[in-house]
Amino acid sequence: MKALVLSGGKGTRLRPLTFTLAKQLIPVANRPILGYVLDQVRDAGIAEVGVIIAQETGNYVKDYVKDGSDWRMRVDYILQEPLGLAHAVKQARPFLGGSPFVMCLGDNLQGRGISNLVRRFEEEKLDCLILLKEVPDPQRFGIAVLDSGGRVTKLVEKPKEPPTNLAVVGTYLFSPKVHLAVDRIKPSWRNELEITDAIQEMINMGFRVKAEVLDSWWLDTGKKDDILTANQIVLDEYVRRDVRGNVEESTVEGRVIVSEGASVKGSRVRGPCVIGRAASIEGSFIGPYTSIGDSAQVVNSAI
Ligand code: DAU
Repeated sequence: MKALVLSGGKGTRLRPLTFTLAKQLIPVANRPILGYVLDQVRDAGIAEVGVIIAQETGNYVKDYVKDGSDWRMRVDYILQEPLGLAHAVKQARPFLGGSPFVMCLGDNLQGRGISNLVRRFEEEKLDCLILLKEVPDPQRFGIAVLDSGGRVTKLVEKPKEPPTNLAVVGTYLFSPKVHLAVDRIKPSWRNELEITDAIQEMINMGFRVKAEVLDSWWLDTGKKDDILTANQIVLDEYVRRDVRGNVEESTVEGRVIVSEGASVKGSRVRGPCVIGRAASIEGSFIGPYTSIGDSAQVVNSAI
């Protein structure tokens, strides 16, 4: 099993942040979303990872992920013009070879992880397994229709009149048969090769396509959620108490990370909360669901 992580695209929806950063690198609780995605790939025991990058922002992604050794994985970079998610699969063919793979969108994170999806995909010998989540605004997503047995019967990309409110989440598992389907689809009205069209083609070709409704949270910082919501969920899920910096005459309550080189003096910090490296907090109150960036200074203030 390999992984294909999509960190290309244009990021137009998150301007102006994405003028100087790839959208997958926007920090949530002081860490890029892409970092959490790579954690999940590593936790599923996948060590060969292709990272799709775009001309505009690829160097930012490379500076962060480097050779992948921080995650104990080997990373190949694949340059792609943002012509759709199925186009990214096509572009990654030399890397993927005949291997099954999990495809993750670099700006999407879901609370279920990848390991047990890989297990189900392998046990049931599927050709495609996707995750779905009910959303209030289905016009903005790929939408699925299921039959009574939970099989996917139809997929539509950003429908004007959505047949259901079950959105396709950005974690997909594919057998190499996906390439046959990708070769048969045509660009959509927005001139992209849509992965939803490729999966629909897999259904039409009689391949084994299944879906699972996600029983956990889903973050989509590319569009669905604002960064503050993402910050809150990630702080709730991932922060364990870890005080490494210097704390003097202060109270640090609950799940708080005080990173190396940080200093907290004459202050009160209440978790969940993360204080970045070399940050300095003096005479201040830092309340729950706060992320203080590396090297920030907070003096006589309440956040
Ligand atoms: O977020 C889930 C949705 O993602 C699904 O419900 C849709 O079915 C699926 O098509 C996709 O929606 P968008 O087309 O709006 O995705 P977006 O353009 O935001 O791209 C998703 C990620 O993939 C993002 O991190 C950028 C990257 N990307 C995107 C394109 C179009 C690439 O690496 N290459 C590309 O060509």
